[in-house]
Amino acid sequence: MIDDAVDGMLKNDLRSLQKRGLFRHPRTRSSRQGPVITIQGRRYINFASNDYLGLAAHPDIIKAAQDAVVRFGVGAGASRLLAGGTVLHERLEKAVAAFKGTEAALVFNSGYAANTGIIPSIANEGDAVFSDALNHASIVDGCRLSRAEKHIYAHRDMKHLEVLLCQAKSARRKIIITDSVFSMDGDIAPLTDLAAVARKYRALLYLDDAHGTGLLGQGKGALEHFGIKPEPWILQMGTFSKALGTFGAFAAGSRIMIDWLVNRSRSFIFSTALPPPVIAASLAALRLLGKDKALISRLLHNKNLLTSGLQGLGLDSMGSETPIIPVRTRTIKKTLALSNYLFLKGIYAPAIRPPTVAEPRIRLTVTAGHTEGHIEKLLKALKTFGEKRKE
Ligand SMILES: Cc1ncc(COP(=O)(O)O)c(C=O)c1O
Repeated sequence: MIDDAVDGMLKNDLRSLQKRGLFRHPRTRSSRQGPVITIQGRRYINFASNDYLGLAAHPDIIKAAQDAVVRFGVGAGASRLLAGGTVLHERLEKAVAAFKGTEAALVFNSGYAANTGIIPSIANEGDAVFSDALNHASIVDGCRLSRAEKHIYAHRDMKHLEVLLCQAKSARRKIIITDSVFSMDGDIAPLTDLAAVARKYRALLYLDDAHGTGLLGQGKGALEHFGIKPEPWILQMGTFSKALGTFGAFAAGSRIMIDWLVNRSRSFIFSTALPPPVIAASLAALRLLGKDKALISRLLHNKNLLTSGLQGLGLDSMGSETPIIPVRTRTIKKTLALSNYLFLKGIYAPAIRPPTVAEPRIRLTVTAGHTEGHIEKLLKALKTFGEKRKE
């Protein structure tokens, strides 16, 4: 009886999502990640992944994972504190600290686990967090899990941030939290100003560099891009799952901060460590990033090509400054129509709708692996879609 009632309720809720064009379901790929993928036996040019440098299926990374599987097996067996860690985990943390120029680093199981584990461990009762309105959902959830007072400042609006900081004078500790590159808009946080505000109000700056790592600052990330030195009052988080093409995440900061996270971050303490082959793959990805400078220049070339092509078509890319390039579609109906049209033309570019974003859009991500031909085909399809709608 209870099962029937619950099922009935969910069925109605699902129907309502369907009616509003908000029902989502995952597509299933039968090929490697890359610029061209196979879905249900058909090949598609893929503008949907965050594999910006095309490393997800790089032969060096595959080889590193294979070697680690042979030596260490697949599963880590336990959480790090329960002896689930290997020498590879430790080596990766040293490599990340050297890469980010910090005293220490700590690997987390995903970007989501990092944000929901780190934020509540540094922001507690009596503290205040200040979060950009367009920060990633994992930051939102991390803030919700913390017992700190929550303040949301208007997107990239430093004046609003200062007003909120002034209002929270009695907070014991203040933490400003921002994405470096906003994941659905592709614009960049004003880090020089944010660092100045953090210094002025003696706040900790927590930077989610998930999309900046491997992309900005010759791959080193957002701080390097802005010429800001890592400081003990800046805590960086980044992921291996996007430009580095693997999986997992890290925090990079002072030794004291990292020791605190080891002892307090619940997502680190209470979850099995990442599998050794995944860690080995991330180590190989970091090595490749340091070695192959052509990867980033190819990516930037492709980004410029697509951005100027979209401008030429009069499409609004919502202020994107990076390879995350949204195309404003205004209505859910048009977003779905465009995504479906592109799919018919052999192009995979997903419709992004509420609740992921407030304004529906097609989110295009261009990578180093795309050819000029791939980008031209996309632009041509966007053009014909526009022409068909005018008819
Ligand atoms: C800004 C940002 N932070 C965190 C995450 C979560 O990272 P992961 O996919 O590794 O869980 C994402 C993923 O989309 C992201 O865009």
